Amino acid sequence: MDVFDGNKFLNTVLLLITTLIAAKLISSFIIPKSRKRLPPILKGWPIIGGLHRFLKGPIFMLREEYPKLGGVFTLKIFHKNITFLIGPEVSAHFFKAPESDLSQQEVYQFNVPTFGPGVVFDVDYSVRQEQFRFFTEALRVNKLKSYVNQMVTEAEDYFSKWGSSGEVDLKYELEHLIILTASRCLLGREVRDKLFDDVSALFHDLDNGMLPISVLFPYLPIPAHRRRDNARKKLAEIFATIISSRKSSDKTEDDMLQCFIDSKYKDGRPTTESEVTGLLIAALFAGQHTSSITSTWTGAYLLCNKQYLSAAVDEQKNLMEKHGDRVDHDVLAEMDVLYRCIKEALRLHPPLIMLLRSSHSDFSVTTREGREYDIPKGHIVATSPAFANRLPHIFNDPDRYDPDRFAVGREEDKAAGAFSYISFGGGRHGCLGEPFAYLQIKAIWTHLLRNFELELVSPFPEIDWNAMVVGVKGKVMVRYKRRELSVNQ
Ligand code: HEM
Repeated sequence: MDVFDGNKFLNTVLLLITTLIAAKLISSFIIPKSRKRLPPILKGWPIIGGLHRFLKGPIFMLREEYPKLGGVFTLKIFHKNITFLIGPEVSAHFFKAPESDLSQQEVYQFNVPTFGPGVVFDVDYSVRQEQFRFFTEALRVNKLKSYVNQMVTEAEDYFSKWGSSGEVDLKYELEHLIILTASRCLLGREVRDKLFDDVSALFHDLDNGMLPISVLFPYLPIPAHRRRDNARKKLAEIFATIISSRKSSDKTEDDMLQCFIDSKYKDGRPTTESEVTGLLIAALFAGQHTSSITSTWTGAYLLCNKQYLSAAVDEQKNLMEKHGDRVDHDVLAEMDVLYRCIKEALRLHPPLIMLLRSSHSDFSVTTREGREYDIPKGHIVATSPAFANRLPHIFNDPDRYDPDRFAVGREEDKAAGAFSYISFGGGRHGCLGEPFAYLQIKAIWTHLLRNFELELVSPFPEIDWNAMVVGVKGKVMVRYKRRELSVNQ
């Protein structure tokens, strides 16, 4: 090798080294930048990650981590990444994204053995969408009007069994009344009038078969799951008999069962008996505990906040002056004060504390402080009504029961746009039963306010964080005395 060749070699090596250094420098700009945009990761233990934190209670974890990490962070549990999006500034995509980007099917799979085959999370999104159309049709205003009459009758019958005065566990009473009402409006007259005890017992087994462990291992061979599967089979038999007898008698009823029997897919195919049973179970699971918990919290808050109790009673008097004793859909729709009292109880205590999706494409969010994060596909994405509903930059003095925060002029539920208040979720998968739930709770409280003086005699209830649908812990003892509210009282 001569000198010239030696220089050429040296130059080539230098060029190579310079190129490598430049590439390294460029990549160090690009790669760490993209790493920097990943959400912060909550520190956890080797292998199990943050499992222990999550099991101790997701809300406690959020309370500790949100002030440190902000509204977007990732919790690793084993090999899974769960990214939290807390607050309306970052949760909009959670609610609005199409199913192809953020889906429910995988994360809500644990419902399949309970709801049964061929419905909701056991079917493709296109079929599920059609089944949700059946729900929407079954919950239209014209249907709700007839459900309300049944709700009012059920409440009258139920409370007619109370004495002239006494003490009751309000939680137990409202749970039972709501099972009866749901049974009448959703499952139908046959179940409500003849098969109530049998069907309630089977639903009880279904309920007890949905445990926290079922979320991870829905088919684990444990006694609770076996009882669940037997109950599901027996319910299918009972409903098959009811459906075929309705079909053969040509009689139609005003209930959700009838709507589901009459529903047809776009291609003209009618629903099968098994699908109708599954959809009814799904409706009961979506609406029963959520509504009974909310009616109990509403009562507990009203009885501890005399100012709102008397505002709600005054509203009843005004409506009685206007409509007499009539209580129907349109009268309930006029109850703004009661509406706000329920809505505020539900803000403080949303029964579904955590909503989940599975992400199928990368997306970015920007926090209200202006930080941008990229959430990679493959993450589970979570938001929390229980935590987000108490964010102090949205809700003034957020732990205080203050139904007037929703009144005209304040409207804190819209302070930061559509996803400020998320007890019913929102966007693409917002609750389809919200009007039904309000009507049911209003019908119950209208009856109680008009016919009883009530006093809470046990301490203000605590939250039962261990339940799948988070509700009220222990008894809620109430002393009642019959009265007849009159306009001039
Ligand atoms: C106080 C009572 C209720 C509360 C707090 C509540 C809450 C919710 C929430 C948070 C979601 C969204 C879930 C998600 O985004 O993952 C939801 C969805 C749903 N709810 Fe409700 N719900 C209530 C009552 C009802 C009732 C009475 C029914 C039916 C009779 C019902 C039927 C549904 C259905 C079908 C969906 C699914 C909508 C979809 O995915 O497109 N809910 N509910």
